[in-house]
Amino acid sequence: VKRIGILTSGGDSPGMNAAIRAVTRVGLNSGLEVFGIYNGYKGMVEGYIEPLTRETVGDIVNRGGTILGSARLPEFKDIEVRKKAIAQLKKRGIEAVVVIGGDGSYRGALSLTEMGINCIGLPGTIDNDITCTDYTIGFQTALETVVECVDKLRDTSNSHHRCSIVEVMGNRCGDLALWSGIACGAEIVVTSDTGFDEQDVLDRLRDIDIIKKKKHAIVVISEKITDVDQFAKKVSLNTGFSGRATVLGHIQRGGSPCPFDRLLASQMGEKAVDLLMQGIGGQCISIRDNKIISYPIEEALSMPQESRKPLMNLFDRLV
Ligand code: F6P
Repeated sequence: VKRIGILTSGGDSPGMNAAIRAVTRVGLNSGLEVFGIYNGYKGMVEGYIEPLTRETVGDIVNRGGTILGSARLPEFKDIEVRKKAIAQLKKRGIEAVVVIGGDGSYRGALSLTEMGINCIGLPGTIDNDITCTDYTIGFQTALETVVECVDKLRDTSNSHHRCSIVEVMGNRCGDLALWSGIACGAEIVVTSDTGFDEQDVLDRLRDIDIIKKKKHAIVVISEKITDVDQFAKKVSLNTGFSGRATVLGHIQRGGSPCPFDRLLASQMGEKAVDLLMQGIGGQCISIRDNKIISYPIEEALSMPQESRKPLMNLFDRLV
């Protein structure tokens, strides 16, 4: 392999730049030429592809977002669209690609590999929803952001005898909610694993007010479960707390990556280049029990979600 490409795809996450830097620098230092493919698979199809140098990736290890830009391209499922993308790569002599993104991006990487372009996936998403890896690049930074915000909400909720209902991202994965709920000392966490029984949550809030006599309550809830503004009104009507909803939204995707994410991205980037240089594709990189390893993408995509029971039990024992 002489020329490789790199792209970021799907929702951006803090640490993607550190991964771009690692792939580029390790690649160049190993004698490869490295090309940046801009705006995800869209740029691959359109031919928005430019060489990366040591300098282009300088000064980015600490920056959030992605210097390559990102996009979602559902049309990439279409084989004709992928053929166009492959033609753009071939025109430039690019034989292999590192794809940083979530499971949708992995599917694209697998299809390209099957069509003769070796691809390696790196897990770039704040959602932590790629089962084969203990952590995705960006999760820890997003967690820090959530914790910082919820700590602030706790101050003001406490002053006003309020219940703060905080909606966090995660797509269908409850990790951001559960991890932050433990770290912030939330009273209640609602995720797709816990399920949402509205009446039960209202009853528990009444107990927190009347029996536990707490001055505030924090409910951390995963997105896509309920309308938090409506729920906050019900809290005001049915409990002693006045309810206030806060949707943290895209703030969770930005910011300077924490050291853990920078290191994870750098180690994973190195592993991706090493695999491509051995002529291996169709794999994705993971961290498991502190080791950087790889899995066939196909296997990774069909792994059942790991149980979060131990952490949920811990949460229940802390409230
Ligand atoms: O996958 C990352 C993520 O931020 C999810 O947590 C969220 O559901 C989604 O992307 C939001 O997507 P968009 O940025 O397109 O609104």
